[in-house]
Amino acid sequence: MLPIGLLMIEHRLIERMIALMRAELTRIKDNVAVDPEFAFVDPVFLDIAVDFMRTYADRCHHGKEEDLLFAELAQKELSSEHRRTMEELVREHVWVRETTASLVQAKEGYLLEKPGALDDLLQHLGKLVEFYPQHIDQEDHHFFIPCMDYFSEAEKAVLLQQMREFDQKLIHDKYRGIVEGIENRKACRI
Ligand SMILES: [Fe+2]
Ligand SMILES: [Fe+2]
Repeated sequence: MLPIGLLMIEHRLIERMIALMRAELTRIKDNVAVDPEFAFVDPVFLDIAVDFMRTYADRCHHGKEEDLLFAELAQKELSSEHRRTMEELVREHVWVRETTASLVQAKEGYLLEKPGALDDLLQHLGKLVEFYPQHIDQEDHHFFIPCMDYFSEAEKAVLLQQMREFDQKLIHDKYRGIVEGIENRKACRI
């Protein structure tokens, strides 16, 4: 398999989560249209969607793109078009990170019944579901495949292996981080 094959398989799962987020957005908007006081936002779904966007889409998927594929491409003599596209894709990852953080903030505001929080929540959720499919389309159809031409067969095999090792390490890093975070909080309280 090509290294981009792994990334494209991940795109398919991200698309499924984005479809669920779009359905949730439509459901809330339909509720608000009937009665603005009863949006019935599902905070559990939003927590799951945010964890997916942060852990799977950002840390696991963007992590492999930025730390491995893009990092290797940066060492190559890229065409100005490919270099521009790569820089744009990195900026878009930053935007997704920021918009996900804004969604979390809006959700917390909504739970505290802050005025305007529901509108913010709908806006940030809407921005994510509208934007992310375009990001995937750009990578799948305009960037990944031509970029493979910069690598030899041996380099592609190494890149694929590095991506698999990245994934293997990730789950351990995530849960070690969670345990250490709780340990540090407890240490601060003593
Ligand atoms: Fe990306
Ligand atoms: Fe991607």
